[in-house]
Amino acid sequence: VRTVLVIGIGSGAPERLTLEAVAAIGRADVFFSMEKGGAADELDGLRRSLCERFATARPHRFVAVPDPPRDRAAADYHAGVADWTAARARLWERLLREELDDGGCGAFLAWGDPAFYDSILRVLEQLSGPGGTARGGGLELHVEVVPGVSSIQALAAAHRISLTRVGTAVHLTTGRHLTEDGVPAGADDVVVMLDGGTAFTALDPDGWHIFWGAYLGMPGQILDAGPLVEAGPRIVAARTAARARRGWIMDTYLLRRIPSAAPDRT
Ligand SMILES: C[S@@+](CC[C@H](N)C(=O)[O-])C[C@H]1O[C@@H](n2cnc3c(N)ncnc32)[C@H](O)[C@@H]1O
Repeated sequence: VRTVLVIGIGSGAPERLTLEAVAAIGRADVFFSMEKGGAADELDGLRRSLCERFATARPHRFVAVPDPPRDRAAADYHAGVADWTAARARLWERLLREELDDGGCGAFLAWGDPAFYDSILRVLEQLSGPGGTARGGGLELHVEVVPGVSSIQALAAAHRISLTRVGTAVHLTTGRHLTEDGVPAGADDVVVMLDGGTAFTALDPDGWHIFWGAYLGMPGQILDAGPLVEAGPRIVAARTAARARRGWIMDTYLLRRIPSAAPDRT
């Protein structure tokens, strides 16, 4: 049996690593990573520096391979992602066989928490089955997951807010969904990740308050908040300037419906 640790490492600051994550990093013989190019490689450098700092208990190796290409122009988005996941699964199966001894311990470091918009567990499920330990063509894996501090929590902490209000629901979505589908009926608190642009500009600016954060927990963190009608244009400008300066940007935001604009549901 090969053990595979999926370790949530927080969304930037080494201080956000949990003690459990540090202990897990210390158990790994091999750290696997996918090279994607661009911003992802800067984040990969950060992952590697965490390993170098905390993987001191035993000898270890890094195995980095180029991520299989993803067809972003695929007519069917979900079919494109499924093909890409299957290509990764084939590659990871080979890597785990060839680079990790039976009885050994491998690790994948997941940015933030692996439960939010991260593909590592989805790919491993194809190899090991959803339950944890299962056989995938003779490859027996024992998968363990260590939760991490997500950028969602980093956003809430930076703005000193709770995402939930008394007994309310929170909707978690992507920029793409917000652009294509709008806000679902009844959602008054919406957390948006993976927004390649500024999907919030499509909303009625009078109806919403925004809490926005870029590079959360990292050097150069930027925050802004306020009624969307005022903060929206500032954020659009700040985003463009930051991306030009740094070459990439990662941001997350909460949209909170302004109470007077909420439909009367009494
Ligand atoms: C592929 S998802 C990974 C999310 C990650 N698993 C988490 O728990 O934060 C990448 C998205 O997470 C958000 N994100 C991750 N790190 C961030 C950071 N340091 N600051 C702001 N947003 C971040 C952004 O919305 C980005 O587009």
